[in-house]
Amino acid sequence: MWNYLFSGDTSQETNMASEVTLSINGKSITVGNEVLATTTLSSYLRENLKLTGTKVNCNEGICGACIVVAKIEHPVSKTKETFSINSCLVPILNCHGWEIKTIEGVGNRKDDYHPVQKQLAEKNATQCGFCSPGFAMNMFSLLADEKKPTMQQVEDAFGGNICRCTGYRSILEAYKAMASDAPALTRRQCADIEDLEKFCSKSGKPCSGECKKVKAQPIKIKLGAENWRKVVTTTELFAAFAEIGEDSYKLVAGNTSEGVYRSQSVVHYIDIKDIPDLRQVSASENFKLGASSTLTEAARALRTQASTAGFKYLNEIASHWENIANLPIRNIGTIAGNLSMKREHPEFASDVFTLLEAVGAQLQILTGVDKRETVSLPGFLNYSIKKRVLESVLFPALDDATHRLRTFHVLPRTQSSVSYVNAAFLVRLSSATSWDVAEKPRIVFGGIRASFIHATATENLLVSKNILDPVVASQAISVLNSEVRPDEVLPGAGVDYRRKLAVGLFYKFLLGLDPNQVDPRYKSGAEVLTRELSSAKQDFETNESVFPLNQPIGKVEALAQCAGEIEYIDDIPTRPGELHAAFVLTKQATGAIVKYNTDEAAKVPGYLNFYSAADLDGVPNSFTPIDVYSSFLDDEEIFCSKEVKYAGQPVGIVVAETRAAAVQAAELVVIEYETNAPKPVLDVMEVIKMTRDRVVVVEKNDESPPKSANTVKGIFEIGHQYPLYMENLSSIVVPHDGGYDVYPSTQWMDLDQNVVARTVGVPANKVTVYVKRIGGGFGGKQSRSSMVSAACALAAKKHNRAVRLVLPLTTNMEVTSKRFGQRNEYEVGFDNAGKIEYVTMHVIQDSGCSRNESPMGIFVAFFESCYGSEGYKIQPQEVLTNKASNGPIRGPGPIEGIAFHDEIMERIAKHLKKDPLEVKLVNMQKLDSPLPNLINEIKSKAEYDKRKQEVEAYNQMNRWKKRGLAITPMRYPFMLWNHLTSTVSIYQGDGSVSIAHGGIEMGQGLNTKITQVAAHILKLPIDQISVKTSNSITGANNGISGGSIISEGVSYATMKACQTLLDRLEPVRATMENPTWLQLIREAYNRNVNLSAQGLFSKDVPDVKNYNIWCVCISEVEVDVLTGERQIRRVDLLEDVGQSLSPLIDIGQIEGAFIMGLGYWLSEELTFDEAGRLRENRLWNYVPPGPKDIPVDFRVYLRRNAPNPLGVLGSKTTGEPAICLSVNVWFALRNALEAARVDAGGPNDYFDMKQPATLEHIHESSLTEPMQFKLK
Ligand SMILES: Cc1cc2nc3c(=O)[nH]c(=O)nc-3n(C[C@H](O)[C@H](O)[C@H](O)COP(=O)(O)OP(=O)(O)OC[C@H]3O[C@@H](n4cnc5c(N)ncnc54)[C@H](O)[C@@H]3O)c2cc1C
Ligand code: FES
Ligand code: FES
Repeated sequence: MWNYLFSGDTSQETNMASEVTLSINGKSITVGNEVLATTTLSSYLRENLKLTGTKVNCNEGICGACIVVAKIEHPVSKTKETFSINSCLVPILNCHGWEIKTIEGVGNRKDDYHPVQKQLAEKNATQCGFCSPGFAMNMFSLLADEKKPTMQQVEDAFGGNICRCTGYRSILEAYKAMASDAPALTRRQCADIEDLEKFCSKSGKPCSGECKKVKAQPIKIKLGAENWRKVVTTTELFAAFAEIGEDSYKLVAGNTSEGVYRSQSVVHYIDIKDIPDLRQVSASENFKLGASSTLTEAARALRTQASTAGFKYLNEIASHWENIANLPIRNIGTIAGNLSMKREHPEFASDVFTLLEAVGAQLQILTGVDKRETVSLPGFLNYSIKKRVLESVLFPALDDATHRLRTFHVLPRTQSSVSYVNAAFLVRLSSATSWDVAEKPRIVFGGIRASFIHATATENLLVSKNILDPVVASQAISVLNSEVRPDEVLPGAGVDYRRKLAVGLFYKFLLGLDPNQVDPRYKSGAEVLTRELSSAKQDFETNESVFPLNQPIGKVEALAQCAGEIEYIDDIPTRPGELHAAFVLTKQATGAIVKYNTDEAAKVPGYLNFYSAADLDGVPNSFTPIDVYSSFLDDEEIFCSKEVKYAGQPVGIVVAETRAAAVQAAELVVIEYETNAPKPVLDVMEVIKMTRDRVVVVEKNDESPPKSANTVKGIFEIGHQYPLYMENLSSIVVPHDGGYDVYPSTQWMDLDQNVVARTVGVPANKVTVYVKRIGGGFGGKQSRSSMVSAACALAAKKHNRAVRLVLPLTTNMEVTSKRFGQRNEYEVGFDNAGKIEYVTMHVIQDSGCSRNESPMGIFVAFFESCYGSEGYKIQPQEVLTNKASNGPIRGPGPIEGIAFHDEIMERIAKHLKKDPLEVKLVNMQKLDSPLPNLINEIKSKAEYDKRKQEVEAYNQMNRWKKRGLAITPMRYPFMLWNHLTSTVSIYQGDGSVSIAHGGIEMGQGLNTKITQVAAHILKLPIDQISVKTSNSITGANNGISGGSIISEGVSYATMKACQTLLDRLEPVRATMENPTWLQLIREAYNRNVNLSAQGLFSKDVPDVKNYNIWCVCISEVEVDVLTGERQIRRVDLLEDVGQSLSPLIDIGQIEGAFIMGLGYWLSEELTFDEAGRLRENRLWNYVPPGPKDIPVDFRVYLRRNAPNPLGVLGSKTTGEPAICLSVNVWFALRNALEAARVDAGGPNDYFDMKQPATLEHIHESSLTEPMQFKLK
């Protein structure tokens, strides 16, 4: 039968296609052998169709930047449904018959924007905007097909979208307002919600194309050495198996497993997802679920079946599966795909496998047409699946009255990551009213070790016993504790934690069986932390007399951001002949390079060349030129010339015709090293002990401290943080008119200009840098961008063609700087009131492989926060390690210093058994400080005293759930620096105004603020002002866009330029009678008045001075002591912003900074392996906060009635201070854990909690041990 499909017998091939057909934004397209089998939908959209509104960051299905919407016909029901999907994981050839809509098709400038775009923009829910199209597309899918999601469904749906800038609150609020159960008023305020209906459910209003019906049909496409096939019946599948002989092959369903494990290329790819037999659902004695059912449809089917007697337990499985991965993954990822991942990678903690095994499900495997075998789940792990296919899952009927099933999974963040440990427990009781175990229970775990599935000894022990007999329960816990033996899987949670967690989950199960039979204090231990619908408040005043200054407006470019119309570096159209480059990185952290072998790389079609340090032709091999910039102390090499400094260091670049070829070939370049490379130095203490030459003593102070009534000593150690801007480092260099145009994703044009000029050997005036905006920076694009631009420029010079270098996320994470780690060994002397008398601090900073951009000076300047520093002796040291040179990530210096001060205050309070706030107030500098008043204000708003009592009462009543509350006051001393210009031009044609400044818009709202400033000074409407691309011509010699100063500094420069223009216009105006703006401008032009002016901001300007920013934060958290999970119940944050230039922008900066800080303090752990390689080099294992990790109740207050006489137009900066407040949550966690430690029989003393406070570290600090698990 199949033979006709491949035999060349064309008479029977009428049904066979040689290309796939799909529609994109209503236009039908066909795709054939012009792509690779691995070409993803996102690459096809971006590179072939130039639809660059869809963004890419991780290529793993986690960040959501690439989300598009697909309308897909179900092969069984033949109904079409609209889903969000990750276009970075789906091969374009897998999309046959799909109607795809991208952000361009949803709404655009020409056809009007869609409500999901307008809503994000109007609710000020964008910053850099890189993530915005992905959020909008996900929301579009939620509303498609006339679905009416509730607020809870909206809030649950964004686990697969990461936003690093906004802190999520504004996005969730914007979209929850569109939910069916949103308050009527909020819904009415939504952007054109009534227009939703106007968008045709088939095509969407803006696209005029037709939705052509495409048949599900077999397809065969020859793609060079590879083949793509689509089969739509099992008969065709087995015919294909016969046809391919012994060639390698891969079945493709959702293809989402590529986000977890990258597969090797194979000869045949067979798309099986439209075979109806694999998607059937039926019920008789068993419930049968087609194995190729997606996770979304599987959960839905289980819920339907759960209403039938014997299948109530399916509700528990559905609830669990509804939380696997994230919505776009669940929409196309299948049950069979998941189980096959477990089969191929037995260490994979598959939630599907664990749950199916716990309920005794079985798998049916088709071994031929209509031939099947039935295997158990464990049997499947060793089953040879070659040329066979998983057909269905059989769920048994289980008596509803006597079976108890509970399942758990504990993840590093609330959504979208795989479990540390998952578990499912099923017990059959002898009757509905008895607790006697009737048969061997099923106690199943995932995430322990590949070969560990059942806790067999514990299962055996419980047979015929009363499971709620306290003695039996204790025995079971003890046996379980000894039989769970996790193996080491790095990166990941440790062995000890996973063991205790597994036992803790079983204990939770026991506690939940009958709450009436357990000690009331233990009852709440049965529950998992459930998150209520989040809520928020933003409280600020405005001064209408200065509008549009201080007016709460959204970002000026927000709509274009939400429509994907904004251009980031990689969105710039390719030029004819443009080439692509990819870095080759060291895989070890030390050693000397001997040579390179490019033999294998050269075989990749499209490979052109490899360049290393030897190809620099004698120009300086440095992207941090110390002779030009005083902030650099070391010349860091563009390409490592011999001695390797860190794993992940670029040694050269491959240049190729396509990006895929460049990336593939770069992986194949072999670096040969001299043998006996030294062991990498990764730990600062190792350096201090052994290799003094790596220590730079910044300041020395050996005086011995005075005597005090009380002393405490401690070590405060904090780690690195990856900046995680969503647009990875990128640069395009174009040889041009004897010079070079450079388009980098940089925070510092001047550096890129000078480094490129030196690298290609031309004067700086032959290099022009253009930056429209960047997709986030957070300090991570200050200096590292010049490395990318320099490498790219070398390739552009060698080929005399434009070259593009866009780093994949893993390369970006390995190559680039992280936040400096710091170890602070301290001693504090204080009186009985807690007043500090002396502090000695030995501060050791992990600088990475160079001394560049050290924040130690800022640390010393900022660490005193709102307290004094009299009697402080600081001995700062910078230590060089074999890591990428660390860099200034948002709040460098203050974040460490301010946290340290909270640490010693909390420690003194513990020593003296005082309230930490009392100690903080005793030590607080009183002079000119509004803090005592602000503390009282926020205490009253947050009902701090009442809640403190409630927390204490709660902790008394609950052994396994603890709450904690903390308060952090802060002074952030803002210091002027930098050199920034702004050029304002008025056009005589229509009087409109343009601004070209030397700062970089990276999401901080710079362009919006300066638009408001210019409109205010020139007294013009905002829409008459337009901000242009920053460039190194009008913005020559501008400093770094960093350190919070840019918005205020460029606002100042803009204000001065506008004032200069007004001064020039005034004499003209004086001769006219009440002229309109346009009349005035035309007249001035006719009189040869220069209508362009430039303003300058620097630290020397006379009318702006250093000032203080005052903040207070109160956080309340809850900890699940059995698992280490935590939830931030409420945060009240008050920040002094002076008279805000733009309150909504400032609220966004504050919220975003705070949430980025939460990542630092709670989850973003970076570790290195023995060879010095970064373990967490992808989003699969690096854990930034997601939308459901933010405070459940988040209230931000801007200080009222406090214009800043020292700042720009009364304002204060907002970019960085709030990140320093997020340590408050860390202290709230400590507060909660104190109660847990005492209950665990531990000492009531100050304890060291590791940073970040991952679930593992929280659990460790709680002193929880299985032997504490009792029922009574
Ligand atoms: C970001 C992210 C988070 C995730 N989180 C979780 C989590 O928390 N818990 C969890 O359990 N999983 C998680 N996963 C895994 C996810 O469930 C799987 O990626 C998905 O189910 C795989 O299905 P697929 O159809 O995309 O498989 P594919 O990628 O298409 O295929 C995977 C493998 O299965 C084989 N295969 C597919 N169908 C069949 C069949 N019918 N018969 C035989 N072989 C077949 C393929 O040949 C391939 O080898 C996560 C994945 C991602 C990307
Ligand atoms: S790029 Fe697709 S999810 Fe990140
Ligand atoms: S606005 Fe979301 S990542 Fe920048």
